[in-house]
Amino acid sequence: MAQNVRSPGLGLLVFCILLYPAMTTAQQPASNLMPLPESAQYGTGSLAVDSSLSVVFTGYTEPRLERAAQRFLRQLAHQTGLPLSLKPSKTAKATLVIQTDHAGKEIQEVGEDESYILDVSTASARLRASTPLGTMHGLQTLLQLVDVSPGGFAAPVVTIQDRPRFPWRGLMIDSARHFLPLDVIRRNIDGMEAVKMNVFHWHLSENQGFRVESKKFPKLHELGSDALYYTQDEIRDLIAYARDRGIRVVPEFDMPGHSTAWFVGHPELASGKGPYEIERRWGIFEPAMDPTNERVYKFLDELIGEMAKVFPDHYFHIGGDEVNGREWDANPKIQAFMKVHGLKNNEALQAYFSGRVQKLVTKHGKAVVGWDEVLVAGVPRDVVIQSWRGQASLARAAKQGYRGILSNGYYLDLGWPAARHYAVDPMSGDAANLSAEEKQRILGGESCMWAEYVNPENVDSRIWPRNAAIAERLWSPQEVRDPASMYARLDFVSARLEWLGLTHRTVSRHMLQRLAGSASPAEFAALRTLADVIEPVKDYTREQTAPAEPTSATPMNRVVDAVPLESDAGRRFVEMVDQFVASACHDPASEARLRSQLTIWRDNDSILQPLAQRSFLVKEVAANSQDLSALGTMGLAALDSIATGQPAPDSWKAQQLAILEQIKKPKAQLLLIPAPAVQKLVEGVAAGGACSIAKP
Ligand code: ACM
Repeated sequence: MAQNVRSPGLGLLVFCILLYPAMTTAQQPASNLMPLPESAQYGTGSLAVDSSLSVVFTGYTEPRLERAAQRFLRQLAHQTGLPLSLKPSKTAKATLVIQTDHAGKEIQEVGEDESYILDVSTASARLRASTPLGTMHGLQTLLQLVDVSPGGFAAPVVTIQDRPRFPWRGLMIDSARHFLPLDVIRRNIDGMEAVKMNVFHWHLSENQGFRVESKKFPKLHELGSDALYYTQDEIRDLIAYARDRGIRVVPEFDMPGHSTAWFVGHPELASGKGPYEIERRWGIFEPAMDPTNERVYKFLDELIGEMAKVFPDHYFHIGGDEVNGREWDANPKIQAFMKVHGLKNNEALQAYFSGRVQKLVTKHGKAVVGWDEVLVAGVPRDVVIQSWRGQASLARAAKQGYRGILSNGYYLDLGWPAARHYAVDPMSGDAANLSAEEKQRILGGESCMWAEYVNPENVDSRIWPRNAAIAERLWSPQEVRDPASMYARLDFVSARLEWLGLTHRTVSRHMLQRLAGSASPAEFAALRTLADVIEPVKDYTREQTAPAEPTSATPMNRVVDAVPLESDAGRRFVEMVDQFVASACHDPASEARLRSQLTIWRDNDSILQPLAQRSFLVKEVAANSQDLSALGTMGLAALDSIATGQPAPDSWKAQQLAILEQIKKPKAQLLLIPAPAVQKLVEGVAAGGACSIAKP
């Protein structure tokens, strides 16, 4: 066999040909598609897209499909500026012929057929799918294919066969910590549709708010939400809106912890004495439901029964995360109960609680999803485990017979670059060693938007565009993993997502405008130059570096709230430096571009400082601005040293590195992204560095 690999025989050749579609997908550099399809065979020529474009349904149709076609046409009109007729065509000669075989499930299920085949020729496009879900995905693909061309708008000739790698591709939005109005949720659902995500996990209750109207227990939302909640009618509308886009809605009612807001109206559910108030701070708090109180289960039975009717999805998320157990420890009645029932510790007590709640959820016809804390001995097999604390729990769950979804690695609030999320695969880590049967239990993943530091204004910019990279990870073949290709397509898709009403690109400018007040155009440009290369601190350091304890009442009008979580300009500068250093610092074009960028940075601070004197919000980043200027000066000095053909002396290098150490420290909770790349230049020109000083 080993010999065969070096000198391919016929068998290997056939094998390669069979693999070919997937390989062309992975290597298709000019594609705009995100997520990339399972296979795409590009031909020559293109299909003209002009105002005569028409759509016809030949096979099965239903009102949802007709609305999807209307949405497609409206979006295409938006994309092209063409006046398109929204009326469905009656002729089989239409530009786009859609054939759907049959209806999907009345209540969308996990694992329904979402595949489609899209054939674009120079004369027409043909979309075939077994269910409306596949048809809707195919329409999104076609929208991404249409682009401007020398002769007009057009889609390339291509045959795409596509289906998702995982059946559960979700986005969780926490609209409990900060309430998010429905228009915000809807436009994010539009974004999910565009990148083929199919689960909206709605985190609806927290210490900071109970966000759903309960007709059975109105004190929950009346006293627990500051009047910021969704009515049941609004929720039904939203669920219909999501279903129209092939998206399931899974509600989460987090218990027994993360539940202070419930206790404001219903202190009898809690393990402590109360009274309770809506929590304004962030973190993990003591209040927790009393697992030993039968009234709690009676209450939950009625509430889950009520909510099971509002949310038709088969899955019901009961949270289960981060119970610190202090109220349980302090309650003698609970301690006595634990002794009598042989519950050795708080974990066992929580397992008892989860088991009881799981029975209630089952009684109301649903299956439980829980955070990985619920994975303890004896948990029923139909519970779906959502792994957030590490990838290992996903593999452990699968080994033990549980189905699971991965969220560890997909926390959008941690501020990671898209490439870091993109590199996380549900089947990697411990999951890579699972048997085929165990792997089947891994249903997919969910990105998570926790809402300590988001509000209706900036939430889109915390979700997008990075979420599209996660959507691709969950849809496309595992071998699709080139970050350069991902970033190129992400740029394209990001711009298009804004046409859906998402504000992730424009909002930063608006927020900076507010910070800048009556800045001159030059000052505002200088603020943007700085804002373009700083990112909020990562992971959970936002709390640790806060100037004062943040709460839900803290304004989110600072630079840290306005700038994107990933700096495109910063990333491009890093790439530029890498390219330059890879040429042993000889490539004159790279050098010229670096010089031009570094000069702008060096000179930026003197333009920005007067504005910092007039705006307290800009003043907060005055030190960041000085750092950027210092980086510019330092980078230029490194380039000068290369130009003289002399390695920089060690003393100079040591001095610059000391300055860089200061520059790399977060200020105003912001990181200066180009700093490590400038460090590469400094190290490169020192004796023994990567830059060969003697020019060839
Ligand atoms: C979680 O992040 N506590 C699920």
